[in-house]
Amino acid sequence: MTTFADFHRQSLADPQAFWAEQAKLIDWKTPPQQVCDWSNPPFAHWFKGGTTNLCHNAVDRHLKDRADQPALIYVSTETNEERTYTFRELHTEVQRAAAMLRGLGVNKGDRVLIYMPMIAEAAFAMLACARIGAIHSVVFGGFASVSLASRIEDASPKLIISADAGSRGGKVVEYKPLLDEAIRLSSHKPESVIMVNRGLAPMSMLAGRDHSWRGLSEKHQDAQVPCEWMDATDISYTIYTSGTTGRPKGVQRDTGGYAVALAASMKHIFCGNPGETYFSTSDIGWVVGHSYIIYGPLLAGMATIMYEGLPIRPDGGIWWSLVEKYKVTVMFSAPTAVRVLKKQDPALLKKYDLSSLRALFLAGEPLDEPTGRWIAEGLGVPIIDNYWQTESGWPILTIANGVEKKSSKFGSPGVPMYGYNVKILHESTGEELTEPGQKGVVVIEGPTPPGFMQTVWKDDARFVNTYWKSIPGKLVYSTFDWGIRDQDGYYYILGRTDDVINVAGHRLGTREIEESISSHPNVAEVAVVGVADQLKGQVAMAFVVARDASALTDDAARLKLEGAIFKLVDEQLGAVARPARVRFVTALPKTRSGKLLRRAIQAVCEGRDPGDLTTIEDPTALQQIRDLLA
Ligand code: PRX
Repeated sequence: MTTFADFHRQSLADPQAFWAEQAKLIDWKTPPQQVCDWSNPPFAHWFKGGTTNLCHNAVDRHLKDRADQPALIYVSTETNEERTYTFRELHTEVQRAAAMLRGLGVNKGDRVLIYMPMIAEAAFAMLACARIGAIHSVVFGGFASVSLASRIEDASPKLIISADAGSRGGKVVEYKPLLDEAIRLSSHKPESVIMVNRGLAPMSMLAGRDHSWRGLSEKHQDAQVPCEWMDATDISYTIYTSGTTGRPKGVQRDTGGYAVALAASMKHIFCGNPGETYFSTSDIGWVVGHSYIIYGPLLAGMATIMYEGLPIRPDGGIWWSLVEKYKVTVMFSAPTAVRVLKKQDPALLKKYDLSSLRALFLAGEPLDEPTGRWIAEGLGVPIIDNYWQTESGWPILTIANGVEKKSSKFGSPGVPMYGYNVKILHESTGEELTEPGQKGVVVIEGPTPPGFMQTVWKDDARFVNTYWKSIPGKLVYSTFDWGIRDQDGYYYILGRTDDVINVAGHRLGTREIEESISSHPNVAEVAVVGVADQLKGQVAMAFVVARDASALTDDAARLKLEGAIFKLVDEQLGAVARPARVRFVTALPKTRSGKLLRRAIQAVCEGRDPGDLTTIEDPTALQQIRDLLA
């Protein structure tokens, strides 16, 4: 038996041999000729010369042994639907969807934007794209027209797939008007749109452009669409994520490296076996949904649950009832969801037979110790914190019980995974910090492992400059997270170094929210910061200087403008991005050169010392914020 330390050492000492071994976990049409090409850093090319297909590995590959076993289990507590698709049925549905795409002229390399709720058709659509080599770009269904428009603009999809509506807590959110508005705002226009009609909201269809999913699917009942053999380095998908600037970045992923990385993670980290059931409570609009609702579990021959609904409706036992019913062995969620459940009747944790469950993985935001302990004691299974990013595609820090059983430490996501050469560097000198407890920026030395982003879609320069040149004098990938390491090599993540905030596990850019608020006619200036919150981890707080403050003399007037700003953000970005409060001030704290002192504002909001303020232009600006909060 290997220790994890040895396993990790081998992965870095001889990545070629290490990943050649992992590559055997998937099917190749032609085997790779070169495991890793790192001749042009920071661009890592994995498994060059190899050809494969993600959909083949996720679906077709399993027809031989488990055609009649469950593959996709769709559960909606919003519409009270529940349906299991076997691998054979999934294969049929994916081929129908692939035929629809082909029929509308979608070919290898074309982009297909997917803006959908958590319904089975969304999974069919993603897998159909992978099947024919179209690049999917899934946009979270909670985003609204302006967010969607910027993604349509950047991805320039030939076709968009959407649905009439999503539903959250019984409230229907119509997608079609948001989509139509987004297409109107974007200079790029898709040739075709396919709409799934769930019967939740009326839709106006544009003749010639809009098609009905059902209508097309019926036309292609018996479609047989073979998998397109893709080069390992061909793009499988792009997914947009927020960073320091307002413009979201299209994180671009390859095909072969991603398949190998996910298959390896299912074996070494998640310990999921074929024929078992995996339940991730995320959404397909986020990276966790891509890797661990759709591709990872299916690659491993597991059934995957796609759940639409809240964790507390009809009651806080709903997830556990699904664990019992479908004998879930591996579960994946976010600390926020656990904090929501913690407010429910604790007896709900004991009501169902959870004996099938082996572990609960939590990621997306820091897991606080009380929450971790509560759920560990309640479930009686290991809680495995794991730290990663949209960019990485799979865990960077966690423990790999499939290699060597280790216990987690509360508050720490764990140790660097195989393939990741993680370091902590001083943010301005670039010096490596090797002593336990020294705080610095968490970085990854190249070559980044399989599954990691290839580049920023259409923008190699942005990939290099944003991610690899942020630490002076060193070509290393910055995670933009602060971290420390303890004497046992366990890492602790201490928040972002940039303007990204994490609200209920959702990654949001404060700049995007600021841009949206600035578009209100009565907003002259705005600063948005993330402030610690008991339930959501962080919430966004906005401080606004009004153009015309004369009307803002009483609470009613201020609340009215705050309400108007909420509405604007909801309509442009989506309710996920709505700040918790909008407060009005006459000036924002800035340096003498005009830079907003966001970190000082954040510190004041959290009751901390704002630190060095020698460069502040007008100290009364910060005092105003202090007074407002007091
Ligand atoms: O700040 C870190 C935080 O979430 C960021 C990445 O978010 P996203 O791109 O949405 O990917 C989520 C994939 C799970 C990170 O830069 N983060 C993620 N996981 C953890 C975390 N912070 C602390 N502990 C974690 N386990």
